[in-house]
Amino acid sequence: MESNVKISEKIRYIGVNDFKKKMFENHWPLPEGVTYNSYLVVDEKIALIDTAAAEFKAEFFANIRAEIGERPIDYLVVNHMEPDHSALMSDIRNKYPNIQIVANSRAVPMIAGYHGITDNMLVVKEDDELSLGACSLIFKMIPMVHWPETMVTWLEEEKTLFSGDAFGCFKAVENPLNSSFADYEEEMIRYYSNIVGKYGQQVQNALKKLAGLEIKRICSTHGPIWTNEAGKVVEIYDKMSRYQTEPGVCLVYGSMYGNTEKAALAIRDELLRRGVKCAVHNLNEENVSFAYRDVFKYDTVVVGAPTYNGNIFPVVEIFMQGISQRQIKNHRFAAFGSYTWAPASVKLMNAIASDSGFALVSEGVSFSQGFSDEKFGVENFVSEITRR
Ligand code: FEO
Repeated sequence: MESNVKISEKIRYIGVNDFKKKMFENHWPLPEGVTYNSYLVVDEKIALIDTAAAEFKAEFFANIRAEIGERPIDYLVVNHMEPDHSALMSDIRNKYPNIQIVANSRAVPMIAGYHGITDNMLVVKEDDELSLGACSLIFKMIPMVHWPETMVTWLEEEKTLFSGDAFGCFKAVENPLNSSFADYEEEMIRYYSNIVGKYGQQVQNALKKLAGLEIKRICSTHGPIWTNEAGKVVEIYDKMSRYQTEPGVCLVYGSMYGNTEKAALAIRDELLRRGVKCAVHNLNEENVSFAYRDVFKYDTVVVGAPTYNGNIFPVVEIFMQGISQRQIKNHRFAAFGSYTWAPASVKLMNAIASDSGFALVSEGVSFSQGFSDEKFGVENFVSEITRR
């Protein structure tokens, strides 16, 4: 990435690319990296908006120096306290002892807890305005997108929204001002489904609050800066937070000895033969992250798991827990799986899906021991899951 980017005379990008980290939050794969975005707003006073992950301290301070030299920073605006953005707060305070930390009341105890900082803070609330000279920052609370203290910062003079994690995405960025939405759409859906997906209603609340702003530029904490395609980014967040999907199947499975896998592949082949869109995820080989992305794309979730210890095969059980936690709406569900002496997985998966608000479109298929089409009835099962 070009380290520093002058977004405008007043706004400077000082974020960093992370290609080293394998797992975001030590949980979600990063095959193409991620960015931690941070911005300076330079006026008579200077505001720094969020920081970066701890391991980027040297690069981050070099980026600041390249923009403003030894000029002091007056304010650190804390839109979000998760450590990928707040880890360098203590270092910033050490470098700029007079800096005032601008945060809302929900962030205050987190700042004390993570950094022991309790002094020289400006506590802001909804629509408070902070003048930097010719321009002002305005703060709007968007709680639970995806932490309770989350807020966004609006720079009216530049029609720019510093949105925190909202509108963010995985994937490193070559030039934050010159990225195509099409290149980031998949990783935006995956980011949303993995990190924010539980909070659809809160995202809807935030979108309603921001609807009155004439947003020309979105500066989030992850991914590109959106200008021409800002409308598309808002639209996709709106769509995902309303659980709006397209017809198709997210087919997810785990298998012990290959019998549930044989069933999964036979279902896939029959779906494709009928021209149904189908994304297949083998959880023995990949992280649940990618399957959640496709749950947010397609309206039907079909899950296969053998019975294991009288329960759901573990990797699939983890997937089902995530489904339950995300409180996903407007989806259809069906399950299948093998067993040797006592079937349990299909019944248990149906119960989780049903309790989570999914519509069961089939009773599901449990089959004993080896897979065969005669035993399973693939055509009949596919007819059930595609009937509308
Ligand atoms: Fe990118 Fe919620 O931190």
